[in-house]
Amino acid sequence: MRQKIVAGNWKMNKTLEEALTLTAELKGMVAAEVKGSVRIILCAPFPYLVPVRNLLGQDSGILVAAQNCSEHEAGAYTGEVSAAMLKSIGMPYVILGHSERRQYFGEDGKVLAKKIDAALKHGITPIFCCGEPLEVRENNGHEALVKKQVEEGLFHLDNASLEKVVIAYEPVWAIGTGKTASSQQAQDMHSVIRKHLASKYGQGTADGIPILYGGSVNAANAKELFACPDVDGGLVGGASLKSREFTEIIKSMVDV
Ligand code: PGA
Repeated sequence: MRQKIVAGNWKMNKTLEEALTLTAELKGMVAAEVKGSVRIILCAPFPYLVPVRNLLGQDSGILVAAQNCSEHEAGAYTGEVSAAMLKSIGMPYVILGHSERRQYFGEDGKVLAKKIDAALKHGITPIFCCGEPLEVRENNGHEALVKKQVEEGLFHLDNASLEKVVIAYEPVWAIGTGKTASSQQAQDMHSVIRKHLASKYGQGTADGIPILYGGSVNAANAKELFACPDVDGGLVGGASLKSREFTEIIKSMVDV
């Protein structure tokens, strides 16, 4: 069975004090039985990774992860954070290729393939994001574009490496807009991605890769999205900043 995952992407939000308040609330609200069946990940800004992780402690069942890392190993890259640094503070996951990184920071398939390699080299699981802008979907180019993104970012990997990756399908038109993909649209794209993985890596490998949906997931729509056979969880932005709502979303993943 594929790992069920609900990851909160805090993006560039909250002061340290606010981040710790949210963390403490979540720690108290997410019940033990929920933590066992769903992997819960908080993708916090770099300066909060260690304090948030320390507040959660060893047995909270909630993991902390980064939102990006450098493609470079080390050196004169002012302002960057390497995968080796993330490893050295014990980060198990890193988001790579979020559409905001692609759009505002010019990250393309080539650089993302290098970032994927950097993360895997240090034993960090990449949460690799893909997804099409609105005009691409309106022109019916979404399947081709997402397949291309997956090829560019991941298809250089061998089976053993690919099996360490998590994918997040996040249609750009659904991110932060309140406009969620319908469960049918999500299922269709997740199935396209899985079939594409199967075409290169075989069905067995493709069947083991968790594919998360992201884009305006909230407490009201999570259950229906998570019930889709190829949707293995969510990457949640805005709604992950509110402890009660994020807890409801996590709970939606438990019963499916
Ligand atoms: P959203 O963001 O839930 O606020 O739409 C999702 C994401 O960008 O990961």
